[in-house]
Amino acid sequence: MNISQIINELGEDRENYFNAVAPPIIQTSNFTFKKVADLHKAFEDEMGGYLYSRGLNPTVDILRKKLAALDGAEDCLVFNNGAAAIFAGIFANIKSGDHIVSVAKPYTWVQKMFDVILPRFGVTVTYIDGTTFANWHQATKDNTTFYYLESPNSWDFAIQPIREVAALAKSKHITTLIDNSYCTPLYQKPIEMGIDMAMQTATKYIGGHSDTLGGVLSGSHAMIKKIFDSEYLNIGSGIQPFNAWLLIRGLRTLPARIERITKSTATVVAFMKQHPKVESVLFVGDESFPQFELAQQQMKAACGLFTFVLKTTEMSSIVRFSESLQHIMMAVSWGGHESLIIPKCAGLKEVDFDAGNKEHRYIRMYVGLEEPDYLIADLSQALDKIS
Ligand SMILES: Cc1ncc(COP(=O)(O)O)c(C=O)c1O
Repeated sequence: MNISQIINELGEDRENYFNAVAPPIIQTSNFTFKKVADLHKAFEDEMGGYLYSRGLNPTVDILRKKLAALDGAEDCLVFNNGAAAIFAGIFANIKSGDHIVSVAKPYTWVQKMFDVILPRFGVTVTYIDGTTFANWHQATKDNTTFYYLESPNSWDFAIQPIREVAALAKSKHITTLIDNSYCTPLYQKPIEMGIDMAMQTATKYIGGHSDTLGGVLSGSHAMIKKIFDSEYLNIGSGIQPFNAWLLIRGLRTLPARIERITKSTATVVAFMKQHPKVESVLFVGDESFPQFELAQQQMKAACGLFTFVLKTTEMSSIVRFSESLQHIMMAVSWGGHESLIIPKCAGLKEVDFDAGNKEHRYIRMYVGLEEPDYLIADLSQALDKIS
């Protein structure tokens, strides 16, 4: 289906709500029934209709239809945030004694789930450098039931060969889940590449305004129903109608925002690459990126995240640069209207800072919707402040 049709029309029965262009926020916890038999039917299959908004809700359903179509998936669930979507997608598909192969350095809360929560249930995880097919093959054991991918990663942008990993998983009846947050389905469609579940944090590009959280999990009808009937209802972290409405609103402008962000990022990256105080820049869309060719094969384009390293070994210089920015804000997250930076050393105690470990010197930047010249001027004056 055409992307404009998905964004502007799919799921929207406007005659049912006064031909309003914007959909209503059905802010209700429960739905009434006239017949006991109908209520019974809803108890038997909660996904078959509206019973209680911890399950389905009409405003959320409009969003679900659009997001599943964008992913090229049969169905999807929208959670209150991305971390909940990942949690449910994994928990619904593992059991005690299982083994998971995961990319190294997945998103922080995924790593915490793997390291702290899953061992309590007898599930083990092997982290691999997921950039080569051979590593997935070698790490797979007899009890491996799950592959966890994140491509690109949101700090060093490591990419997995998605089609090959998906095919290997299928041949061994292993379930796959990918974090597609960097790309959004506009730039990468993992389900079409054979992955079982595609997840993205809608908090980022889908919302686009840093005013709501959300998480999308897409897959087959059977997979989504399995998750809905258990983890989704049990954890109770489905998105609420108002937040779903904000995400529908965000979707309307997603292609225009992403297109602008892609262009601006290339301009900002070009400035940083040539600056004498910048040692290196890691950007998926740049020819110098180690996996540039694979990125070109799997992704339509690169978005607004890149990482750079300053020509300094002093944490104090990184701190001075970060604190000297006047317009680019220092904050977690990305995908909104506002440009952001986050220095990796903010996650370290000063005594643990090791200049020999390049990652400790990483500064991640997200390029938002501002004029690129405005951002470049801000970066430039902050770079001037360091020796
Ligand atoms: C790559 C990645 N995946 C998942 C998440 C989790 O999403 P949320 O913050 O919506 O729970 C984040 C959040 O920053 C993220 O950066």
